[in-house]
Amino acid sequence: MTTAATGSGRDRVIIFDTTLRDGEQSPGASMNLEEKLKIASVLEGMGVDVIEAGFPIASNGDFEAVNEIAKRVKNSTVCGLSRAGRKDIDRAWEALKPAKSARIHTFISTSPLHMKFKLQMEPEAVHQAIIDSVSHARNLCDDVEWSCEDGTRSDRDFLCRVIESAIKAGATTINVPDTVGYTVPEEYTALMRFLIENIPNSDKARFSAHCHNDLGLAVANSLAAVIGGARQVECTINGLGERAGNAALEEIVMALRTRPDVMQFETGIKTTDIMKASRLVSAVTGFVVQPNKAIVGANAFAHESGIHQDGMLKHAGTYEIMTPESVGLNRSTLVMGKHSGRHAFRKKLEELGFNLAENQLNDAFGRFKDLADRKKEVFDEDLVALVDDTVAHDSHRIRFVSLQVVAGSKEPQSAELELEIDGAVKAVKATGNGPVDSIFNAIKALFPHTVNLQLYQVHAVTQGTDAQAEVTVRLEESGKTVNGQASDADTLVASCRAYIHALNKLLVKREKTAPAAMSA
Ligand code: KIV
Ligand code: ZN
Repeated sequence: MTTAATGSGRDRVIIFDTTLRDGEQSPGASMNLEEKLKIASVLEGMGVDVIEAGFPIASNGDFEAVNEIAKRVKNSTVCGLSRAGRKDIDRAWEALKPAKSARIHTFISTSPLHMKFKLQMEPEAVHQAIIDSVSHARNLCDDVEWSCEDGTRSDRDFLCRVIESAIKAGATTINVPDTVGYTVPEEYTALMRFLIENIPNSDKARFSAHCHNDLGLAVANSLAAVIGGARQVECTINGLGERAGNAALEEIVMALRTRPDVMQFETGIKTTDIMKASRLVSAVTGFVVQPNKAIVGANAFAHESGIHQDGMLKHAGTYEIMTPESVGLNRSTLVMGKHSGRHAFRKKLEELGFNLAENQLNDAFGRFKDLADRKKEVFDEDLVALVDDTVAHDSHRIRFVSLQVVAGSKEPQSAELELEIDGAVKAVKATGNGPVDSIFNAIKALFPHTVNLQLYQVHAVTQGTDAQAEVTVRLEESGKTVNGQASDADTLVASCRAYIHALNKLLVKREKTAPAAMSA
């Protein structure tokens, strides 16, 4: 199973996206059901082979999300994570049952450190738990993935024994995670090769890489694993994930596509959907993509230095190893301004990779008209920020209605705020230590709550004093953090909307109660 060649003669690498599971475990990246469904639909559309939709036993919210995604997705396999216990596996299967193609993914730690301190189990007990859990999962579902958590810090001989047992018990995919981002490319290639060559029944399963980015090596390690024989890589959009994140899907896919001369592998990913997926995940989570991020950063295809620009004008290949179009970044053909109509607006959004529902389009068009009245030039970045904002603020309990602020050197600064809370419009006037503090106090007056404000960050979407402000607010409550994001030509309106966005996410998070020791 490790050398499936495609029509092109190149081996196919399965893309397993875990944005909705490992990505969501990133502090502050929680998503609600509707947001997860949108992301799953984009992942399916872009040709992701396996969508890990969540950890069904973690909470009712997770269960519902996996279950809904399982009902709707038809062209990708839908996967749910579970620990080794029967209850976990049963819950995962219950959520996955409606899927056209379902996978149970079960895991347990195999490194001496994890077995001794985290599991407090003897290696032989872990071995037996692997046999029991995989057999149980396989009795329910034909497609079973088993992961040896902390695989790269596990003893090789022990790994060989337990992987052989997992395959015998019915595992069809064997994932060897670099859970703490510890390995380096050469070592990971060698480990994959060693396991595949030394486990007698290794040809009965597909081997998989799952890399975290603690040393900034997640993508390099994933590619190294493929060279060593892995034919599945687990990754997330924008590299979202706990700590330093997971391997970035877009980087792995574009590396394989750009360098077939050194890596003869292909994926089923429609790369022109990459920007759309990246923007959606960023908008939903509030995690801004750093400008110099490979493939999807705002500067990834920007050429400013004179020498580079000159070279680019003579031949794009001088400084571009892939085209912006290949990742869905279209060179602009339509310039937008205050006289642009709805039709042109819709077409422009399509060019930028957005396909909005009618109500979202109406909303976004209204906001675009307001912006065009206030701003001389509306850039693509403005439209992206505006649409991201419209999508992110859709269908929440607390909605922004209007804001009037008194700011300046004379006190008191104050904010008059109207919010719609659970369908009813409420208004208040509050003061504070400056305009932003007044706004946040007004929100607290209308919707009383106690949280810690951990981050308040403003950046300009484009250049110029009329640029839109993009504000990020991070709130914390009982160890749970969420990021809210909003953009507006008025920094104070953006601040208010970003706080409300974060608060709405916290309300969703409150409904989720994760059992103890749910780390993965
Ligand atoms: O990082 C990890 O080990 C995981 C496993 C559960 C696959 O996320
Ligand atoms: Zn992980």
